[in-house]
Amino acid sequence: MASEERTADAPRTEGAAPKVQAVVLVGGKGTRLRPLTLSAPKPMLPTAGLPFLTHLLSRIRAAGITDVVLGTSFQAQVFADHYGDGADLGISLRYVTEEEPLGTGGGIRNVLDHLTADTIVVFNGDVLSGADVGDVVNTHHTSGADVTMHLVRVGDPRAFGCVPTDDAGRVTAFLEKTQDPPTDQINAGTYVFRREVIEEIPAGRAVSVEREVFPQLLTDGRHIQGHVDYSYWRDMGTPEDFVRGSADLVRGIAPSPALTTTHGESLVHDGAGVAPGAVLVGGTVVGRGAEIGPRARLDGAVIFDGAVIEAGAVVERSIVGFGARLGPRALVRDTVIGDGAEIGARCELLRGARVWPGVQIPDNGVRFSTDV
Ligand code: GDD
Ligand code: MG
Repeated sequence: MASEERTADAPRTEGAAPKVQAVVLVGGKGTRLRPLTLSAPKPMLPTAGLPFLTHLLSRIRAAGITDVVLGTSFQAQVFADHYGDGADLGISLRYVTEEEPLGTGGGIRNVLDHLTADTIVVFNGDVLSGADVGDVVNTHHTSGADVTMHLVRVGDPRAFGCVPTDDAGRVTAFLEKTQDPPTDQINAGTYVFRREVIEEIPAGRAVSVEREVFPQLLTDGRHIQGHVDYSYWRDMGTPEDFVRGSADLVRGIAPSPALTTTHGESLVHDGAGVAPGAVLVGGTVVGRGAEIGPRARLDGAVIFDGAVIEAGAVVERSIVGFGARLGPRALVRDTVIGDGAEIGARCELLRGARVWPGVQIPDNGVRFSTDV
């Protein structure tokens, strides 16, 4: 490790346990991203050409943390098949699988046997963020808290954990997904735990860290410190956010140490074909072996490997799954097209439509307009 590299993991002596370890929770079912998550776990969906988790693991590595445990459940084997021991990313990666999902708190408790450090940084596996992990760890150490929580401010806090703090930045309440949030400050999905606190989480049953562990710690008068950060932040768990986060990576609005390509309006991968006259803007990604026909217009589109977009089709803020096909002059806006689906010519799919994998819609089969 270069001496000038920022590090949350202080220099170690030979054979000593690392001072900071990371846990990444990746066991969710990703229901809000169905049907894409029927065939791949959410953190493995291609995002600017890489599995989303690669961006997060690279960020953890960039903070100097090299010992990482993945808490898996749903489609657990996919992670190990792809990352192996983590050496390609310069980390040591281990996997712990819940046969039945144990929830976020249960997932953290379930990896305890692999935790030897005093300081454990836990990440939700679907958050794209520019926050400096080392800074969050430093806040934890200087405040002496039991848990330190990365906090951000968002426009609509109702979909998140609402987390008010006092003047000293100490957390005063944790209100998961409340309809009446008292502040726009939310849980950003990264926590620094003292190891002993993880030992206190009940073992062998499902536990929500948000609904059970954090509220109980506060009731018991324990110290949860907030670390507010104003850099890029997005939870990638919905189609709208996934499309936006992907586009922000392509355009360089969202940072990722894993991306080595130059930023621009589009990212076209090896083996993809883009016909003359096609327009690719808004952070569009075209996957390997995909084909984009003449005069097609793609704005903020995420086109997975092997998909085909025929002549004159329009794709806006939408995801087109592996090997799917859009016929000539189809219009797809704010929509998810499942793997291998075939959308006929001049179909219009808008406003949150989701086409299931392999479904075939005939030419003119779905329209919003009445002209033929
Ligand atoms: N191992 C394991 N086991 N992981 C799980 C389980 C489980 O049973 N359930 C969920 N996870 C993982 C998911 O894979 C995801 O990476 C992370 O835990 C969070 O789950 P989400 O389903 O994405 O939660 P959310 O987005 O609704 O809310 C959470 O994240 C918000 C920030 O993005 C909460 O932590 C909120 O408080 C927070 O504001
Ligand atoms: Mg989420």
